[in-house]
Amino acid sequence: MENGRWSLRVICFAFFFVITSSSAEFLIQQVTEYNSSYNLNANLGEVTRELRSERPSSKIVTIGNFSVVMERFEPYESSVFEASGYKWRLILYVTGNKDDGGNNHVSLYVRIEDTDSLPTGWEVMVDLKLFVFNARRHKYLTVTDEAVKRYNQGNREWGFGQLIPLLTFRNPNQGFIVQNTVSFGAEIFIIRPVGQQERVSFVSNPPDNVFTWRILRFSSLEDKIYYSSEFLVGDRFWRLGFNPKGEGEGRPHAIPIFLYAQGFRPNAVETSTWGAVNLRLRHQLGSNPKRASSAAWYPIQPGHREGVSNIILRKDLQDGYLVKDSIVFEAEMVRVSVTNIVPV
Ligand SMILES: *[C@@H]1O[C@H](CO)[C@@H](O)[C@H](O)[C@H]1NC(C)=O
Ligand SMILES: *[C@@H]1O[C@H](CO)[C@@H](O)[C@H](O)[C@H]1NC(C)=O
Repeated sequence: MENGRWSLRVICFAFFFVITSSSAEFLIQQVTEYNSSYNLNANLGEVTRELRSERPSSKIVTIGNFSVVMERFEPYESSVFEASGYKWRLILYVTGNKDDGGNNHVSLYVRIEDTDSLPTGWEVMVDLKLFVFNARRHKYLTVTDEAVKRYNQGNREWGFGQLIPLLTFRNPNQGFIVQNTVSFGAEIFIIRPVGQQERVSFVSNPPDNVFTWRILRFSSLEDKIYYSSEFLVGDRFWRLGFNPKGEGEGRPHAIPIFLYAQGFRPNAVETSTWGAVNLRLRHQLGSNPKRASSAAWYPIQPGHREGVSNIILRKDLQDGYLVKDSIVFEAEMVRVSVTNIVPV
């Protein structure tokens, strides 16, 4: 009894081991061979493989008469090619690079060349994609991972030991070897970290942030939008506007008031602008103004407005707001954004 139980455990353990050790390859097999829709978007650990139609941007190597060399273990070194201002070679192991876990796989690398001309301590950061052409589908199997490749004196070669399993690559139904010809490629994108950044900050109560607009002969105004002169607060010109006959929901019984964002001051960094404003209709016989406030991103394009269609009911104007046929609006810009380009 005791003996039988033990051997069952061994069998279970052995079975588990076989499944886990071969699961990565099994997944590729499943994806490439058993799924007729050929979904290669499977994410195998950090390495992603997908099909794309566009040719690689840096290099393509095509080998005809492939059967002559398909069992060889020594690498093929391509000619030197230039990409993104540096010199490179493709290094291909059609039976895998054993020193890099490439057993039963094709291995493919990109090596940087002519590094003598680079300054001491050089480093080149690369977003690297490698490709295997699938002639049957007229698409490139694209292999990449998320890690930026740091080429330097000690690391002149980067790539994938397990670019593609030989079982998949050599399967005639897959279409990687067609008419005894295979094709590989590389795409090398240099990452040059940006030196400057756009910095958005907010200024509360900036200088000269209160604008006063006195409107005369109120009773003679027409049914149209009247605008104030422009005033500068932060990086941007602003103006007030209103239709004395009312707008939207407030028409005709209420008086509206809106803040408009206009152009930028010279040399400003033109971006969306945050504008938080207190809008007031002054009480000319006391200190009890009608108030409204708004806060919003104003787009770059001039003319966008924010405000209210009812800062006061027309019938309340006589309570000290309309005096000598004149009203007074105020705009207090309580917070605006300022955008600058600064070093990172
Ligand atoms: C095959 O792939 C498609 C997506 O491309 C997926 O919807 C489907 O479930 C897959 N079939 C199998 C058997 O894995
Ligand atoms: C290489 O391929 C060409 C065209 O397929 C063929 O004519 C030629 O015999 C092949 N050479 C060798 C050495 O296999």
